[in-house]
Amino acid sequence: MPETEEKKLPFDEKITVEKWKFVSPEEYKSKHKETIKESFWLSIASELDWFKKPQKAYEGKFPFLKWFPDGKINASYLCLDVQIKKGKKDKIALLWIGEDKKERTLTYNDFFKLVNSLSFAFKNRLGLKKGDIATIYMPMIPELPATMLALSRIGVIFSFVFSGFGSQALKDRIDDSGSKIIITADGFLRRGKKIYLQKNVESATSNSNIEKTVVFRRLGEGWLKDKKDIFADDLIKDVPSDVFVEPEEMNSYDPLFILYTSGTTGKPKGIVRDTGGYMTILWATVKWVFDIKDEDIFWCTADIGWITGHSYIVFGPMMVGATQVMYEGTPDYPHPGIWWEIIEKYKVSIFYTSPTAIRLLMKYPEENVEKYNLDSLRILHSVGEPINPEAWRWFFNKIGKRKCVAGSTWWMTETGGIIISHTPGWELIPMKPGTNGMPIPGVSVSVRRQDGSYAEPGEKGFLVIDNPFPGMPLTIWKDDRRYEETYWKRFEGVFYTGDFAVQDQDGYIWVLGRADEVIKTAGHRLGTYEIESALTGYEGVAESAVVGIEDKEKGEIPIAFVILKEGVSPSDTLKEKLKEQVRKVVGPIAVPKDIVFISKLPKTRSGKIMRRLLKAVFTEAKIGDITTLEDEASIEEIEKAYRELKKELGK
Ligand code: PRX
Repeated sequence: MPETEEKKLPFDEKITVEKWKFVSPEEYKSKHKETIKESFWLSIASELDWFKKPQKAYEGKFPFLKWFPDGKINASYLCLDVQIKKGKKDKIALLWIGEDKKERTLTYNDFFKLVNSLSFAFKNRLGLKKGDIATIYMPMIPELPATMLALSRIGVIFSFVFSGFGSQALKDRIDDSGSKIIITADGFLRRGKKIYLQKNVESATSNSNIEKTVVFRRLGEGWLKDKKDIFADDLIKDVPSDVFVEPEEMNSYDPLFILYTSGTTGKPKGIVRDTGGYMTILWATVKWVFDIKDEDIFWCTADIGWITGHSYIVFGPMMVGATQVMYEGTPDYPHPGIWWEIIEKYKVSIFYTSPTAIRLLMKYPEENVEKYNLDSLRILHSVGEPINPEAWRWFFNKIGKRKCVAGSTWWMTETGGIIISHTPGWELIPMKPGTNGMPIPGVSVSVRRQDGSYAEPGEKGFLVIDNPFPGMPLTIWKDDRRYEETYWKRFEGVFYTGDFAVQDQDGYIWVLGRADEVIKTAGHRLGTYEIESALTGYEGVAESAVVGIEDKEKGEIPIAFVILKEGVSPSDTLKEKLKEQVRKVVGPIAVPKDIVFISKLPKTRSGKIMRRLLKAVFTEAKIGDITTLEDEASIEEIEKAYRELKKELGK
């Protein structure tokens, strides 16, 4: 959230709407208190269709907890077989709209058949089995959720790499996960242009352990390079159409997937997600936060490649048998009213999107919204980054017409499901523009000072989760120590989120942004490490440091500071080449808005780059605003570095 707005957050504003019943914050807190016990989650879990119902909430050596350890479950079974048993065979699961306006409609039965064919082929033709790992690198097509469900059906752990990542980012994740198979597509459409994903796959896998590449055809232009490649339609061609693959009975704590996310330092972390705890938090939040009813049309605009899509396109909504919309394109292509056109046409009732998209769309003339009838909407939520009060008001007034619940759900890759929110499907507290609301039932959060003590209402501090919760990670892939250190040691025994937050006098949480060096650009989470490695991998570059700078639309954007090797001269052409390098290696989302050539990076005595200082000099912030933020350096050091840097940059 922009610092200027942070100072005047509307803590005292309370907004209610006619159609919904609201409770006071005090009532919420007293009901919520009752839910902070293990037996609460066990009773929620018992609402799921387990092969073997669990009798225990969790066990294990903290923080490596196994949730519902004696339970047996299968995620694909919950999303498909259970829906069919409940009579939803012919219910529409997915309304898919291509950027070229191509439409496809799939019922639960269509998914069931496709998933079974894929599971059969993965198992019998590719030899995949329980415990194996497969990488998915796919665009937003119906075959994508089908692939995830097909792999989970047979107990194969998948690792999804967002299709906007470039070849090196893909390769790093393939290598770290150790997967031997990659499932991809020939490409997809982006703003009328064809993006050929297979090219990235080729360069990422040319020197890796990948033994097989499966290619779905979205553009109809795929190619097979060698025996390693196979088209997905060929793979399932002769599979009998009524094939049934018995879902594997998984332990609740068996991994369902790995999802890489960026941290403060070092390489991306593979967050390992369990099955039973994850499905339980999704089950609960889909009901409490989205209040999905049988007749609802749900639309989450995220890309499935990020956790939001994993949780609230694939596993969450499908396990309650919801009907969903999926759109291949960007929010303002082919025209700035396309999202509102889709909401009107398909009568979307629950809409889940990002602040960046809202800020982008609110810039266009109002007739782009007013042309369309948005009466079907009843719940609006955003996710991924703080929503500034102004954007919230626009969303609530212009899209929700002051009659919808509108919230900002806070959570992260590591939590698997929503943790702080408004909960229209449970108890609903009045809305406030820009707040996240209160923790969901069964989870307690607090705002702490550096020393771990509780911050006062209105005092900025660090957000932590106080109790273990289903959906917490199993670990970081192949790095138990890093898992424990990163999340459970910063404040002993509680989960450290890495976010700054403030709690107001009513107990509402307002997450303000990252407290570390993670960059949030358009809601996408980027570590500085990968961008810096891409830059230093370019000949002529000696060292680099990347920081996130505030941006009105995207929240933050990366800016790179680069030191060149002796004899290499800075130039605009070199800047462009470096941007191109980042685009190719990490992906288009990571391209720095600007590259600043510099002779020396400001560092603390222990060699840590003073990133906040770089940021401050770039944005011309006052030195007083940063001296408290660089924990390892003395004020004199910071001031000296600040003066030198300003001089060099001519500021
Ligand atoms: O800084 C918080 C921000 O996004 C981070 C998590 O990013 P990621 O793992 O990519 O997951 C995003 C989707 C769940 C958090 O540490 N964040 C997420 N939602 C919000 C938010 N910040 C403020 N308000 C939110 N609603």
